[in-house]
Amino acid sequence: MDKVRYGIIGIGKQGSNYAKRLFKGMDKNGVLAAVCDVKEDRRQWATDNLAGVKVFEDYKEMLASDAIDAVIIDTPHYAHPGIAIEALDAGKHVLCDKPAGVFTKAVREAAEHGKTKPELKFGILYNQRTNKVYVKAKEIIDSGRLGNLKRIVWIITNWYRPQAYYDQGGWRGTWAGEGGGVLINQDPHQLDLFTWLAGKPITKVWSVTKTVGRKINVENDVTAVCEFEGGAEGVFITSTHDAPGTNRLEITGDGGKMIIEGGSDVTMKLTFVENLVPEPQFSAENKVFMGKIPTKTYRYKLNLIDMIKGAIEQQHINVIRNFSLVVLGKEDKLIAPYADGLNGLTFSNAIHLSGWTGKQVVYPIDEEAYIAELNKRVDEEKNGGVKQA
Ligand SMILES: NC(=O)c1ccc[n+]([C@@H]2O[C@H](COP(=O)([O-])OP(=O)(O)OC[C@H]3O[C@@H](n4cnc5c(N)ncnc54)[C@H](O)[C@@H]3O)[C@@H](O)[C@H]2O)c1
Repeated sequence: MDKVRYGIIGIGKQGSNYAKRLFKGMDKNGVLAAVCDVKEDRRQWATDNLAGVKVFEDYKEMLASDAIDAVIIDTPHYAHPGIAIEALDAGKHVLCDKPAGVFTKAVREAAEHGKTKPELKFGILYNQRTNKVYVKAKEIIDSGRLGNLKRIVWIITNWYRPQAYYDQGGWRGTWAGEGGGVLINQDPHQLDLFTWLAGKPITKVWSVTKTVGRKINVENDVTAVCEFEGGAEGVFITSTHDAPGTNRLEITGDGGKMIIEGGSDVTMKLTFVENLVPEPQFSAENKVFMGKIPTKTYRYKLNLIDMIKGAIEQQHINVIRNFSLVVLGKEDKLIAPYADGLNGLTFSNAIHLSGWTGKQVVYPIDEEAYIAELNKRVDEEKNGGVKQA
């Protein structure tokens, strides 16, 4: 195989974005061979704009065809794990967009299924893992300079969505169509990075989840607290109604503190205040009343070339390029294996469950209880549950 021949399932807003990029040749190791959508107007768009690319209505037919080696899944969330399993069974490599699914049970099954097909690559499209600011943060943490994790706090409230966003209808903003609100739609990247950067398993979660100022049934306001193995704490605050919003991540360890903040992906900045003596050692040795730890501050942001590249290309193509290279055996590691999707999704499900029940949720989470609570909300919605104002 010279180039990976991709088929995209779901060419709505996001899938068509990838289709255009692959069609333009932005991945020199990948080619767009086919697309598929249940909607006639999306297929017509493909026929009009993607000359030579096969167009399917039924993804099963696309999976059965010899035209493709790999699929990118870009349907609404509930379908992700099921389609992934079918694609693997059809012998196709799978790159699934976020989230990995709506509930952990289905995602776990798909991830387990992936293990039975080691010859096939199975990834998740966590493009924000390629943001060099987060890559730098991970590098500092993995190098041990931040020391033992004490606390991680993320305020991510700059997902402003007015009522018109939810009024466009379709699957968004509904339990049945989407499986949640800000947690499942906007936050999967941050929930992934939160767990990826912490590098430790979460053990407990408490939360408040609410709907504020929008006529929707799903949550758009969340405050969650968690505990990690080893005792560090995490706080995750998110909303789609704060104006202006904030995007600030603070990670504190014995070795200092990292602050990442900024509006857009390309203007994100990292400040690392490194303790020149680790905090526990300083406290044990220091004899000065109110003594202060000497520190050194490092600042990191994207250089101009990366900013321009990021703005023009967007991060997603980096994940697709990496996926092609791994399929072709030219690179070893996926930026994000699909199974990693479980980390952020488990946190997301735990936050929902705690918010719904008003109780602390202890890991491993009760997956059946989660599904039962979710289904209750899906049923209420189907029976005309009143949208909250
Ligand atoms: N990685 C990112 O940064 C990012 C950004 C936005 C959206 N997304 C994700 O992309 C996915 C799609 O979101 P979107 O905004 O493009 O939604 P969308 O509604 O615009 O597109 C979804 C498309 O899937 C099609 N579809 C549904 N079921 C199908 C099926 N069984 N077979 C074939 N086609 C089917 C629909 O007709 C629609 O055209 C979601 O998982 C979303 O969370 C990812």
